[in-house]
Amino acid sequence: VRKIILDVDTGSDDAVAIMLAALAPEVEVLGVCAVNGNQALEYTLENTLRVVELLGAQDRIPVIKGAATPLVRTLNPGRLCQPQTPSTQYDENGNEIAYHPKEIGNGKATIKPLDINFVTWYIDTIKNSPEKVTLVPVGPLTDIAMVLRADPSVVDNIEEIVIMGGGKDQTNTTSAAEFNIWLDPEAAQIVLTCGAKITLVPLDATHKASTRYSEKADFLALHNPVGDMIADMIEIRTTAYNKFQPLHEPDLAPMHDALCVAYLIDPNVLKDVRFTRVDVDISGGFADGQTIIDTRHFHNQPDNCYVALDADRDLFAKILLDRCKNF
Ligand code: BDR
Ligand code: CA
Repeated sequence: VRKIILDVDTGSDDAVAIMLAALAPEVEVLGVCAVNGNQALEYTLENTLRVVELLGAQDRIPVIKGAATPLVRTLNPGRLCQPQTPSTQYDENGNEIAYHPKEIGNGKATIKPLDINFVTWYIDTIKNSPEKVTLVPVGPLTDIAMVLRADPSVVDNIEEIVIMGGGKDQTNTTSAAEFNIWLDPEAAQIVLTCGAKITLVPLDATHKASTRYSEKADFLALHNPVGDMIADMIEIRTTAYNKFQPLHEPDLAPMHDALCVAYLIDPNVLKDVRFTRVDVDISGGFADGQTIIDTRHFHNQPDNCYVALDADRDLFAKILLDRCKNF
């Protein structure tokens, strides 16, 4: 059983990742840390608490409050390339259409985050674990970068860092950059070069594993709160993708973050995995936040990253549905 820490910016697909991890016997979740990202920290934290409470997992999975701002960039950075799609939009009837609504689920959480600074919590949890710990950051990499800077020796007890982020032929925030990396590019570069084993799950892989709208019915048929919430996430995400970012066919919605968790359950879910050099453009130009995935080995730096360029869609769908039956 792998010991993992999720770092999330919940977030619709983050919610699915948390549920999958909490319900999979193959992993033990030591904690879930919420970071600024899809929404401001107050919302990503509240959404994370709601998901953990819905799972009834609050006694075994602590929630921790992470970083409220990127390392270097301000939240409204005036950068050369800006996202074209605001995080929240409305249809003609005033209904919100967003990949990541500010508030998911029903009602405010009654549980609270731990009363501890996240850097201290990460360092203590990693160093005190008798087995090596796998980090699964599926939001901007601010928290992990701060932990690595505060105590680089944590790397000695990290088994692997599995990151959702970046893209080689796919981007979603600017024509060069993916959201998690774009929001905090300096943090991403710190994490990619920290020396731990890193697996990067970029958009190239997550788009290949997209959930089909028709699968919403399978989750509703589970007749449990987790199935209902995943059905909601499929609805929300399919609507937003169809409107703002249609994929190669309609009615598809990538569940990006959950693919990282599925990889820890069955590594065969990632395909076309290359060991290569990955860096982030932090130069502030038009390609700001781009992941430079050096599959042709032009670089004279050491390879630092396993990068998945493809995924097994049907296997991912099966893993997600099967584990949700455990609720
Ligand atoms: C990533 O950005 C976020 O909006 C999603 O939760 C995912 O982690 C995809 O680019
Ligand atoms: Ca995320």
